[in-house]
Amino acid sequence: MAFKKGYMIVCDGSNGAGKTTIIKAIAAHLLSRGREIVVTREPGGTPVGEKIREVLLSPDTPELCATTELLLFAAARAQHVREKIVPAIEAGKIVISDRFDAATVSFQYYARGLPLALINQLNAIALDGFRPDINIILDLDPAVGIERVNARGEALDRMEKEKLEFLQRARNGYLEQARNDPQHFMIIDASQTLEKVTSSVIEIVDKITDS
Ligand SMILES: Nc1ncnc2c1ncn2[C@@H]1O[C@H](COP(=O)(O)OP(=O)(O)OP(=O)(O)O)[C@@H](O)[C@H]1O
Ligand SMILES: [Mg+2]
Repeated sequence: MAFKKGYMIVCDGSNGAGKTTIIKAIAAHLLSRGREIVVTREPGGTPVGEKIREVLLSPDTPELCATTELLLFAAARAQHVREKIVPAIEAGKIVISDRFDAATVSFQYYARGLPLALINQLNAIALDGFRPDINIILDLDPAVGIERVNARGEALDRMEKEKLEFLQRARNGYLEQARNDPQHFMIIDASQTLEKVTSSVIEIVDKITDS
């Protein structure tokens, strides 16, 4: 069998926008096309990263400083790229990640207000020259997203407990990153039906992975 080229697809956007749901649909679609896939997430994705995730998302640690938070996201990402993502892509697999580096720009810069230069530098260290092929951004009013999360019946994590204005700034951050780099970002209106969102996303995935 001919060697297949590896790719990385990131599914990102507002909390409760449907990332996890859509990733399952992308995974099923790619498997049906005979591709080998790796589904992963941030923060997390590796044993070390998942431990860092617990610290980052636990609602019991409101004292976590913004800088500590940023460094922990970067640390988890550095491990994720080296241990899991790059080896999978080199083996011809398609990696699908629930959030990635654009989330740090949206949440830590646009929403939290940390310096962009610092965030870019930490992302550059964590990524070590790597970059995803596409960021699919599921765009949704954060109030609707939080309603969806509540309806899912799970407790809100530390980020989801932030004020709506914070989540709104993060949302705008994704939109602005997409405007600045249309080649690497696609915005999908996540207020549409799941069927519509899924078919738009699958269309993008096919374009990227058939290229
Ligand atoms: N387009 C849609 N329309 C209506 N409901 C949806 C849609 N997409 C997903 N949902 C529902 O909204 C809820 C949140 O979806 P999901 O868990 O996939 O979002 P998420 O972006 O992964 O959330 P989180 O940020 O908490 O990880 C789920 O109950 C899901 O079934
Ligand atoms: Mg999710």
